[in-house]
Order: sequence, then structure tokens, then C-alpha cells
Amino acid sequence: MINPERIKKDFPIFSNNPDLCYLDSAATTQKPRQVVDAIENYYYSCNSNVHRGIYKISEDATNRFESSRENISKFIGSRDPRQVVFTRNTTESLNLLAYTLGKSLHAGDEILLSTMEHHSNMIPWQFLREKGVIVKYADITPEGTLDLHDLTGKMTKKTKIVSLTHVSNVLGCINPVNEIAKIAHDNSSLFVVDGAQSVPHMPIDVERMNCDFLAFSGHKMLGPAGIGGLYGRFDLLDNLPPFMGGGEMILNVSLDGATWNETPLKFEAGTPNIEGAIGLSAAVDYLRKLGMDNVRNHEKELIGYTMKRASEVEDLIFYGPRNPEMHGGVFTFNIGDVPAFDLERDLSERSVSISSNGIHPHDTATIMDRDDIAIRSGHHCAMPLMTRLGVSATSRASFYVYNSKEDVDRFFAAINDVKVAFAK
Ligand SMILES: Cc1ncc(COP(=O)(O)O)c(C=O)c1O
Repeated sequence: MINPERIKKDFPIFSNNPDLCYLDSAATTQKPRQVVDAIENYYYSCNSNVHRGIYKISEDATNRFESSRENISKFIGSRDPRQVVFTRNTTESLNLLAYTLGKSLHAGDEILLSTMEHHSNMIPWQFLREKGVIVKYADITPEGTLDLHDLTGKMTKKTKIVSLTHVSNVLGCINPVNEIAKIAHDNSSLFVVDGAQSVPHMPIDVERMNCDFLAFSGHKMLGPAGIGGLYGRFDLLDNLPPFMGGGEMILNVSLDGATWNETPLKFEAGTPNIEGAIGLSAAVDYLRKLGMDNVRNHEKELIGYTMKRASEVEDLIFYGPRNPEMHGGVFTFNIGDVPAFDLERDLSERSVSISSNGIHPHDTATIMDRDDIAIRSGHHCAMPLMTRLGVSATSRASFYVYNSKEDVDRFFAAINDVKVAFAK
């Protein structure tokens, strides 16, 4: 069982901001003392570069760095720590993949994504259009879930890669990754999973999921910013070319060329984010202690309660599946109709504000902030999805282990305040 009041005591930000109702964990999470302590302990006891020094504190730093890799690898169900590459975040992990996998793609090869993807699972693949690679998008259903029928219909013998988010940062839907892995592999396509919104929130087992690659970010799972990971099946990773060049990723260098370090160091050019890896490992310890099943159940309860209350509020439009079983801890909504941009109309009205009965999401977020409630508003780095939903922007409240039903109640009281402020 998750006890948010007890958990909050581990997060100094809440004692420093006693009225804060933080509902933006899908953007980034708060950090427990245990994570900050682990980083401080590293700096104060063995700060030095890794894999290089042959003195004691460097060996200590290397051990802490590599055992962090092992810990994080186990957390996602990977049997071999060499299958985890440290990156800056999900975005870098996906760029690494698009760049390295893209080297062996040819004009006419296809990559299959979906319209619900975050920009970081779109743009890196779109770069490959330069070499004639075709990027396709599976649609969403009217309920706000992935349209599997459309996905399979768009798959062809030329589909080399299927890359999808596990949990949408807007719709909150949990995509059936096990089923999709089978569909992709039956078609001899590689299956890449964007785990930015799933690894922090539910038990993950890459072996059972049978994905080929999984990208995730430390800062969305109680860890520090600037550290993330890319899981890859060892044989696949080992066969990929390097991503960036420099120190650490090489074995031998001459004036004519170089040979590469072993996997995963081949992908980790330059001095890595040592303290970040150590901090992320402490975050993993924290989450493991809570139990990832408990984390998931807690969020399921909060989202179920939120949707029940939301259905009782007039003019509240919300997105994604209604069944909490299929929904992560992300609640995306608008108050009234917030139509998509119409440049001609908006410019002729000399305003890009929304000319409808809806309340602009930025106004909603600003008024909520007056009540010390932090939510997100905008396009959530998913502009094609906004277009698909026929809106210019939305607001989003997202939950984590330190949120309680009281936070949800405060959120709905604030929704009422927003409505009152804009009552005509
Ligand atoms: C689904 C999804 N993918 C990718 C990202 C990118 O994560 P990062 O900015 O940590 O690279 C996010 C961030 O919000 C996300 O929600």
C-alpha cells in the first residue's frame, strides 16, 4: 500500500512548500532525500572519473557507477547489465537508436509510429526521411487508445522498425506492448518502446515484454535530470555502430581510424553522468521498496477517482480511455471547447487565443497556480496528437506516489474556481 502522506516526508520540496499540490509528475518528478543523499555521498567520498583512474577513489566511483547500471538493469527485468546504455534521457536514447539503426536503412524502408507519439519518438525518425525512409503513423481510436487494426494495416514487408510509446503522456492509455511485440516480430520488424511514462509507474520486464529496445528517463522516476537509459537486446546493441565519437567509446585509436570499446561503453562517449547514474540507482531502490505493483495500483485508484469526479463536472472534456485498467496516472482535459488553431481566423482576430466557449489551458493552469496547484498546459510535445484531437492545447494533471485523493479534491475545487473566474 502506498501512503502518500508518509512518502511526502521523504521529499523536502513539500516541507519547503507546504501548500504545494504537485500534479506535473509526467513532466518531471520530485526527488526524495535518499536520491540527493546518494549524490552528495558520491561527491563527498569518491568523486573522480570512472573507468580510468587506478587509484582507490576512482575504483570506488567506477564500482558505484557500474553497480548502478546493474541495479537499473534488474529493475527493468534485463538479465545482463551490458544491455543498458546510459544516456541523458529518453530523447537521447531514441536519437541514438534512430541514428544507429538508420545507418542500415535504405530508401523505401518504412518506420511505423503512431499519432500519439511524443515529439522525441517522432523527430529522430523523421530525420531519416533525408535518405528516403518512409515514416508512417498508426491512428488512435475514438476512445483515445491505439488503433491496433490501423497499426497492422499499415505494416508491410518494408516495415523495419515499429516504435511506440508504452503509455501516452497525453491520452494516458497503456498500449498493449506484449501483443505489439508479437505483431512486429511476426513481420520481422524491430520493436522499440518509449518507456518514459511507463518505467516510472508500473512493473516493467523487458524480457517478458519481448521488446528489442526500451528508452526511459531518470528525472521522471524520482532520479536526477540528465540521466536516462536505453535497454537493448545484447545481440542487437552489439551489432550497432557507435553513436557519438570521443573518449571512452574506443579501444584503439590511430591517425587512420579506431576500434570500438565493448558494448555498452561503445555508446557512452566522453565522461558520463556518474552522479546521475548513482542518483538514479538510489531512485530505483526507493521505488523497489515501495513496490511497483503498489505504485501502479495507487495511480490506478487516483485516476479512477479523478475520472469519476470529472464525469460529474459540466463542460469538462477529458481524453483517453475511461477504464482505469487501461489508463496511467495522466489526466488530460479541457474546460469547454478549445478548437485547433486556425491561423487565418486567429490572425484576422489579431489574437491566437481561443475564440470559442472554452477556457484556454494556459488560463486554467494560471488560475490553478494561484491555488498552489501545479499542472501542465500546452501541446505536451505532441502537436500531431493535438491536431488529431482537434484541439490547440490541453491541460494535464499527472500523479505519482506522493499524490493523494486530497490532491484530487483540491484539483476539482480549483476547476470550480477556474469556471467561476470565467463565468460569463
Ligand atoms: C512519452 C514520452 N516520451 C518521451 C519523452 C521525453 O522525455 P525526456 O524529455 O526526458 O527525454 C516524454 C517526456 O515528457 C514523454 O512523456
